[in-house]
Amino acid sequence: MKNLENSYRGKRVFITGHTGFKGAWLSILVSNLGAIVKGYSLPPPEISLYNKIQSSLEMESVFGDINEFENLKKEILDFQPDYIFHLAAQPLVRESYKNPLYTLNTNIIGTANLLQSLQGYQKPCSVVIITTDKVYENKEWIYAYRENDNLGGYDIYSSSKAASELIVSSYRNAFFNPEDYHLHRIGIATARAGNVIGGGDYATDRIVPDIIRSILSNEQLTLRNPEAVRPWQHVLEPLHGYLTLGAALSAIPKKYAGSYNFGPVNNDTLTVRALVESSLKMLKKGSYVVLNEGEPHEANLLQLDISKAIKELNWIPKYNAEEAIQITLDWYLKVEEKKNDAFACCMNDILEYYKTI
Ligand SMILES: NC(=O)c1ccc[n+]([C@@H]2O[C@H](COP(=O)([O-])OP(=O)(O)OC[C@H]3O[C@@H](n4cnc5c(N)ncnc54)[C@H](O)[C@@H]3O)[C@@H](O)[C@H]2O)c1
Repeated sequence: MKNLENSYRGKRVFITGHTGFKGAWLSILVSNLGAIVKGYSLPPPEISLYNKIQSSLEMESVFGDINEFENLKKEILDFQPDYIFHLAAQPLVRESYKNPLYTLNTNIIGTANLLQSLQGYQKPCSVVIITTDKVYENKEWIYAYRENDNLGGYDIYSSSKAASELIVSSYRNAFFNPEDYHLHRIGIATARAGNVIGGGDYATDRIVPDIIRSILSNEQLTLRNPEAVRPWQHVLEPLHGYLTLGAALSAIPKKYAGSYNFGPVNNDTLTVRALVESSLKMLKKGSYVVLNEGEPHEANLLQLDISKAIKELNWIPKYNAEEAIQITLDWYLKVEEKKNDAFACCMNDILEYYKTI
């Protein structure tokens, strides 16, 4: 944590998507590193991690749409960030089947709006764009995807994120070329992480929130796609990766202006069914039923090769999947059943995570 403090203390950090699950955790983390933080997002849903922690968060928060270019640009220029973490997105595969145009606009044009806002920016800025493991053309092969594998996307969410990678690459070539860094002083990297779990996710259509909702309401859990294999990780793992990448990009922009996978070590992947069975075993309650009719297509097998992040960023996952599940369930039990303070529970997880890093 000391290394990160050296990079972020007193720096100005702009986070899009701060009212979301990952954004709220990132806001706590960066504030805790001593940064001056501003968030730009849509207002959170009533039941959200952000609403549970916001009274303890010391940061500026603006509710705005990433699709409104002038508004976004004004908020960025007013704040004068040293770092930007771009998380704002429509992040759900199933939602992208229902609202394809909104997903495409938000994820592709929203990213372009952010980068366009930085044209003519007058100070150095390191920008980390958060995409996903789903940016790769999924061949359902047993090998893990590397950063230089083909991009693609069967569903709209995946292709919107793959397209946002192309947009980033074009902006980086055309306007923020690392070779001309001394002229524009903007470093841009993309971060591709897999499915994250952790306390405080209340999104619909995500497996851990679904498990918790089923337990709290005493209803049977419905599983779609039970045999899908995913690289589950505790949310702090990729967030630590994003911060490490941002710090490296700021120190040596030419070297780190690229793409990085963040995921579990090889073979630490689980099917949705295995994750659910582990969770119900740990909780000692609950049951599930499989529903496999009329479901939209989702990738079945998805693994990331994280050699580049390990070698270049010295980033290594700390928890295996079982540990990540346990920490996550503990958070929900403490907050939802014992009514502990959510911010304190997040801080507790953060301090535990950084004990040995
Ligand atoms: N959660 C995961 O497992 C996972 C995995 C891989 C990648 N990601 C990526 O990480 C990022 C954050 O995901 P999350 O899980 O926190 O999602 P989330 O839905 O909890 O949060 C999304 C955030 O984006 C904001 N947002 C959405 N549309 C917006 C708009 N039009 N204008 C401004 N803000 C808008 C929301 O207000 C919210 O703050 C996303 O880019 C997502 O694609 C998430």
